[in-house]
Amino acid sequence: MTTRTSNDAFVEFERVQKSYDGETLVVKDLNLTMPKGEFLTMLGPSGSGKTTCLMMLAGFETATHGEIKLDGQPINNIPPHKRGIGMVFQNYALFPHMTIAENLAFPLEVRKIGKSEREAKIKRALEMVEMGRFGGRRPAQLSGGQQQRVALARALVFEPELVLMDEPLGALDKQLREKMQFEITRLAHDLGITVVYVTHDQTEALTMSDRVAVFNDGVIQQLAPPDELYEQPANSFVAQFIGENNTLEGEVKEIRDGIAVVQLDDGELIDCKPINVSKPGERTRVSIRPERVEFNKSRLKPGAHTLKAEVLEFIYMGDIFRTRLRVAGNDEFIIKTRNAPDQVRLEPGAQIEIGWLPEDCRALDA
Ligand SMILES: Nc1ncnc2c1ncn2[C@@H]1O[C@H](COP(=O)(O)OP(=O)(O)OP(=O)(O)O)[C@@H](O)[C@H]1O
Ligand SMILES: [Mg+2]
Repeated sequence: MTTRTSNDAFVEFERVQKSYDGETLVVKDLNLTMPKGEFLTMLGPSGSGKTTCLMMLAGFETATHGEIKLDGQPINNIPPHKRGIGMVFQNYALFPHMTIAENLAFPLEVRKIGKSEREAKIKRALEMVEMGRFGGRRPAQLSGGQQQRVALARALVFEPELVLMDEPLGALDKQLREKMQFEITRLAHDLGITVVYVTHDQTEALTMSDRVAVFNDGVIQQLAPPDELYEQPANSFVAQFIGENNTLEGEVKEIRDGIAVVQLDDGELIDCKPINVSKPGERTRVSIRPERVEFNKSRLKPGAHTLKAEVLEFIYMGDIFRTRLRVAGNDEFIIKTRNAPDQVRLEPGAQIEIGWLPEDCRALDA
């Protein structure tokens, strides 16, 4: 018997490629290692290859190149029913002609689990999602959120070590979605399950995950914990895709001592943190988060850089004020300020000065 520590890789993609037509690669060169118990989300725009990755891991699709391993074993060598993978897909509906309890019994029967053990497991799984009283009903007699909870219970009832979820909450309204997000993460954590979760909702990804893999065009753009993705986007795609972001275009003039001097297209020079620029002459997109911009001079920290701006629009949003500015030729420059008693409301037409710290300003690929 082999022994394993909790640090060992549980799910591994090694140089995985996938093509459906033998020509275009929809997954280009995927490398990903997950430890047991991790909650990892694949986030990305439509068509970026998320479902394809999940399907390869589940064994419904085979990789064109590379290898996928589960618990140290190449997945091709493990028959599907021995993979111990639970699945919840948006369109993976409950069986309508069966009761809720029969729906949950199904994966257990497939695994040849005896009647008394089956009943105990079904009871426990339904109680876990607070659906204990509904075993005798049919899916059509439940609300959408209740059906979703049953689908989750059905994926967990045979105590899988790995659960794959593809947009499981896509059909639910915002309130129920948020409740289910919380329940899923709590259950996964309590049961120590490893989860690969797919969504194109960035808030969902940021709030639920230990790590997020941002996909675009069949390539993982960045794989990092939520705070790192937001605070330290590795490239322009991630900066634009995660959260709100301001960009100013320019050219690198100089890089020294960890500072890139960038000349914006309107001529202004600013100091930035060089992320993926390496030499003078390169085009760059400078990225600054709206909440890192300060317009109140007294609050500008020493070393902050300032630029002139014109107020175009002021939007009251309750907890925050959202102000749209024209900065260095960009009419979509957004700043966000907390609604506090002493916070100034900016009037459209006003000429102001804004500023930020060089470390909050990232020089990315153009
Ligand atoms: N069975 C298939 N046969 C041929 N092409 C496919 C098949 N499934 C997916 N594709 C193509 O592969 C690419 C990736 O699709 P995939 O379903 O993995 O994207 P996704 O990231 O899950 O997108 P979405 O957010 O829309 O669900 C797309 O260009 C898609 O058209
Ligand atoms: Mg998909």
